[in-house]
Amino acid sequence: MATGRVYGVALAGAGMVSGAHADAILELDVADLRVVYSRTEKRAKPFADKYNVPWTCDYEEILKRDDVDIVDITTAPWRHADMGIAAANAGKHVIVEKPMDVSLEKCDKLIDACRTNNVALSVIFQNRFKKTMRRVRDYCHSGGLGTLLHASAYVKWFRPQEYYDGDDWRGKITTEGGGVIFGQAGHSLDLLLWLFGPVSEVYARIATTPVHKNIDVENLGVVNIQFRNGALGTLEAATSLYPGTPERLELHGTRGTIVIEQGSIKMWEIKDPGPEDAPGDVAEETGTGARDPMAFPITWHKLQIEDMCRAIDENREPAINGREGRRLNEICHYIYESARGNKPVEIPEKAD
Ligand SMILES: NC(=O)c1ccc[n+]([C@@H]2O[C@H](COP(=O)([O-])OP(=O)(O)OC[C@H]3O[C@@H](n4cnc5c(N)ncnc54)[C@H](OP(=O)(O)O)[C@@H]3O)[C@@H](O)[C@H]2O)c1
Repeated sequence: MATGRVYGVALAGAGMVSGAHADAILELDVADLRVVYSRTEKRAKPFADKYNVPWTCDYEEILKRDDVDIVDITTAPWRHADMGIAAANAGKHVIVEKPMDVSLEKCDKLIDACRTNNVALSVIFQNRFKKTMRRVRDYCHSGGLGTLLHASAYVKWFRPQEYYDGDDWRGKITTEGGGVIFGQAGHSLDLLLWLFGPVSEVYARIATTPVHKNIDVENLGVVNIQFRNGALGTLEAATSLYPGTPERLELHGTRGTIVIEQGSIKMWEIKDPGPEDAPGDVAEETGTGARDPMAFPITWHKLQIEDMCRAIDENREPAINGREGRRLNEICHYIYESARGNKPVEIPEKAD
């Protein structure tokens, strides 16, 4: 039962994605932005001024505030778990942008800290909140597509050199945790896992093409996927393919095919369809990060932050909890092992 409580949120981070969080919180009845943290005044002050809230460059300061219930972390990936653990130890609920952190070990430490302190944890994968994706998942999971045969994701995007030069954490394995497969294509990989289920084997090839300088992560990659249910899959991911094309998911089962481009249905064709096979009304405003990382509406961030608040009210797990959030780290751990060894890598069943 919802209590109608309003949750005070501290936004830790004042960069590119932080605006989507602040705008979403502003539109929600269940959350209120109380304070903004960024490492530098240069970023913290103008951001906080825009939303008319106090700012600080001292992270500990936001953790001491009694009017803060949730710390929403939108900083560089390698800082996520450490900042989340500090928030959990201060008794605050934690929202963290994807990826959960740069390593599985740090994800597990964050999950443990939230469990020990009895606070909620949600990892942002906002695309799971799209109407289209929810309908497609229900349809696949209820057997509408028949036996699942093949799923492919294409994320052939482009980022200019300035994108990598703009912030010191981008394009470095130690601070970003991986390249395009883990970073930009992480949403599509998460959707493949969410729609078609756990994966038993991956075989990946990655490349750092000369399109970008001063990066030590891949800007081009292909992954061959064996799902545990028997279906096959592929991921093709790039930040190096000018000018960048809209991301696409192609899903095939024994009954038909669903193609989703840029979050909208391009094809939904089912053999001998009944009324239950129609896609239904799933149209909504959408966008693509093909050329611009922030070209998407705040709709789904809003839904996920709202879900977090309702989850706390209802004493349940958020829709995307720590275990769900770590799935991307887990599969990428094996994808990069495969790419390094140039061989297929089995994923142990216990890791699903
Ligand atoms: N869900 C999505 O669709 C989506 C979209 C874009 C990004 N993201 C994710 O959101 C996160 C942030 O990305 P962004 O593009 O918004 O980054 P950004 O523009 O570079 O902003 C990063 C923020 O983190 C702070 N920061 C950087 N290094 C730090 C450190 N060592 N310690 C503490 N704070 C630090 C920066 O502070 P200063 O600038 O003041 O130093 C800034 O406030 C990433 O995990 C990214 O993958 C998600």
